Amino acid sequence: MAVLEVYEYPHPVLKKKAVKVEKVDDALRKLMDDMLETMYSAVGVGLAAPQIGQSVRVLVIDYEQEEDENGNRIKGNPRYFVNPEIIWHSDEKVCGEEGCLSVPDQRAEVERHAQVRVHYLDYEGKEQEILADDFLAIVIQHELDHLDGILYIDRISRLKRNMLLKKLKKHREES
Ligand code: NI
Repeated sequence: MAVLEVYEYPHPVLKKKAVKVEKVDDALRKLMDDMLETMYSAVGVGLAAPQIGQSVRVLVIDYEQEEDENGNRIKGNPRYFVNPEIIWHSDEKVCGEEGCLSVPDQRAEVERHAQVRVHYLDYEGKEQEILADDFLAIVIQHELDHLDGILYIDRISRLKRNMLLKKLKKHREES
């Protein structure tokens, strides 16, 4: 496995609509393994392929990570989603604070559907369906947005976005 570079706002690959995967094969599994490794290393809970510069419809999620004796993040309960599609969502919405590895060190409140039903292919290429709620529903919607070229900062008010981007600029100048 390899730790890859995480592309950050405003890289154009993050604005692109990603294409469907034709086949789940060893090359794709290697990509998913590398994405997971990259995500653990960057201390994130979800990562979409466009964030590592690959414009394909693939996500990895793991919010049950553990720590090894050196304090490094290790596999908890990794989930792999190939060609994920929301086939149903609740009318009920929830608001939660989100962050993104492509918008480092920033957070904002975003509104999402409380529940989503998602159809996808798993690590083996088998068709699956999941009814996600709570945190998983939020993470899936955030990551799925990445596949359509949408960042969470596109889902907040212009005023809040401008403030956040100013803070991001300041953060980058300082580091
Ligand atoms: Ni993100």
